[in-house]
Amino acid sequence: MTPDSNVFFKAVAASLELMRGVDDAEILNIETLPSHRRQGLAQGLLLEAFEWARQNQRQAVWLEVRSGNKAAIHLYLKTGFVQVGIRKRYYSDGEDALVMKYTL
Ligand SMILES: CC(C)(COP(=O)(O)OP(=O)(O)OC[C@H]1O[C@@H](n2cnc3c(N)ncnc32)[C@H](O)[C@@H]1OP(=O)(O)O)[C@@H](O)C(=O)NCCC(=O)NCCS
Repeated sequence: MTPDSNVFFKAVAASLELMRGVDDAEILNIETLPSHRRQGLAQGLLLEAFEWARQNQRQAVWLEVRSGNKAAIHLYLKTGFVQVGIRKRYYSDGEDALVMKYTL
């Protein structure tokens, strides 16, 4: 390294995993580090996922969320998802899953 070369440090504070279906896409996971929450990071990632889905001719983005996960449900409603179903006792601890859809 030369004395005047730049040094970069990077950290990932939020991530989103999107499964590309044929017609639709599905969010498998979205997470923000506790220290970086409520700064719009997850919302920004969702908007990027919508843009990817739009550009790749997907019709909708789907997800499942625990019925008690109020933070995530607020986030999804704020970004335009609507609840379209419920899977009773979907999780191994007996909690229901809400099925949510964003139509492109
Ligand atoms: C849910 C989660 C991803 C939100 O990440 P975030 O980066 O803090 O979210 P944002 O800052 O983009 O929030 C955008 C909007 O979502 C809603 N929201 C986010 N966290 C919220 C909370 N704790 N309570 C209520 N609303 C919340 C708000 O409407 C917020 O807008 P505002 O801050 O202007 O009020 C984060 O809390 C997390 O990582 N949770 C643990 C993992 C998880 O549950 N993932 C979802 C699995 S389905």
